[in-house]
Amino acid sequence: ITRQFSCSSAVQSAIKNVTVIGGGLMGSGIAQVAAQAGQNVTLVDVNGDILAKAQKSIGNNLGRVAKKMYKDNPQEAEKFVSESMGRIKTATDPVSGSQTADLVVEAIVENIDIKHQLFQKLDQAAPDHTIFASNTSSLSVNEIGAVVKRKDKFGGLHFFNPVPVMRLLEVVRGAETSETTYRSMMDWGKALGKTCITCKDTPGFVVNRLLVPYIAEAIRLFERGDASAKDIDIAMKLGAGYPMGPLELADYVGLDTNKFILDGWHKKYPDQQLFKPIPLLNKLVSEGKLGVKTGEGFYKYE
Ligand code: CAA
Ligand code: NAD
Repeated sequence: ITRQFSCSSAVQSAIKNVTVIGGGLMGSGIAQVAAQAGQNVTLVDVNGDILAKAQKSIGNNLGRVAKKMYKDNPQEAEKFVSESMGRIKTATDPVSGSQTADLVVEAIVENIDIKHQLFQKLDQAAPDHTIFASNTSSLSVNEIGAVVKRKDKFGGLHFFNPVPVMRLLEVVRGAETSETTYRSMMDWGKALGKTCITCKDTPGFVVNRLLVPYIAEAIRLFERGDASAKDIDIAMKLGAGYPMGPLELADYVGLDTNKFILDGWHKKYPDQQLFKPIPLLNKLVSEGKLGVKTGEGFYKYE
C-alpha cells in the first residue's frame, strides 16, 4: 500500500459542482460534508418533504461541527454554518438538478431497477464530462452502470453512516472506470477530508463484506441462545474495541437493511453459508421491528 492510495489530507479537487441524488440518511450527510468542504451542492429528492427534513438536519449537524471548530468564536461558527448552508441548493427533478454537475453521487433507494431508471435519464441529460457514482451498499457497481454509455466515467463512492463522523470513503473501480475518473473520485474524497481506500467491484466492497457476515454471525449466536444481546455487545466493545456491539450496530443500520443485503447476496451466491437467511432476523423485520428507526429491534428505544 502506498501513501497516495490512503491519504486523508485535504487536497484540491477539479470537481467543484456536485449533485447528490437522494436526500435521505446518506444523501443529506454527503451533501453536508461536500458543502462544508466548499463544494457547490445540489441536493435532489423526489420528495419535497424529505428535502426540507434534510436541510434541517444538515443545519443541526453543521452546528455541531462549527461548535467544535470555533469553540471560542460563535460569530465565526455562525458564519461557517450559514456559508455552508448557502452552498446547498435543492431540487426535485434529477435531470434539471444535474445540468451543472461535475459529479453526480447517487444515494437513492437500494433497488437496481430504480437506480437504472435514474442513470438512464441522467446519461442522456447530464454534460459529457460529468462523472456518475453510486453510494450502493450491496449492489454491483458494474451492474448499476450497465445502462449508461459513459462507462469510463462511472464508479462507486461508498460512504458510511453517520457520514459527517465516519472518516472512510471506499472508492470502487468498476471494470471500465477510467484512470482519470478514478483519480478524480479519490481527489474529491480527499478534498472532503475523508480517508479513501480503493477496492474492486465485489459484494460489499471491503467494509460490508466483513461487517455484514459479522453482524449475521452475532444474530445467529443470539438466536442459538449462546449469550444475551447485551453480553454479545459488551463482549465486542470491551473485548475487541468496537465502538458499538454487533446487535446495537444492526439496530443502528436497520434490520431491514441487514436483511435486504443478506437476501440479495444469498440469491446471488446460494452456496455461501455466511449469507444464508436468519429466521430471527426475518421474524423481527416481519414484525416491523427494524431497529432504532422504528423504536425497537434487538433493543427498545425511547
Ligand atoms: N452527525 C454529525 N455528528 C455526529 C452524528 C451525526 N449524525 N452522530 C454523532 N456525531 C458526533 C457527536 O457530535 C460527537 O462529536 P464529539 O465527540 O466531537 O463531541 C461524536 O460524533 C460522537 O457521538 P456521540 O458522543 O453522540 O456518540 P458515540 O461516541 O457513541 O458515537 C458513533 C456515535 C459515531 C455512531 C459511534 O458509536 C460509532 O462509530 N458507531 C459505529 C458506526 C458504524 O460502524 N457505522 C458504519 C455502519 S455500516 C455503513 O454505514 C455501511 C453500509 O453500507 C450499511
Ligand atoms: P433513505 O431511504 O434514507 O434515502 C433514500 C432517498 O432517496 C429517499 O429520501 C427517497 O425519497 C429518495 N429517492 C428514491 N428514489 C428516488 C429517485 N428516483 N430520485 C430521487 N430521489 C429518490 O436511504 P439511505 O439509507 O440514505 O440509502 C441510500 C443509498 O445509500 C442506498 O443505496 C444504500 O444502500 C446506501 N447506503 C446506506 C447506508 C446506511 O447505513 N443507511 C450506508 C452506506 C450506503
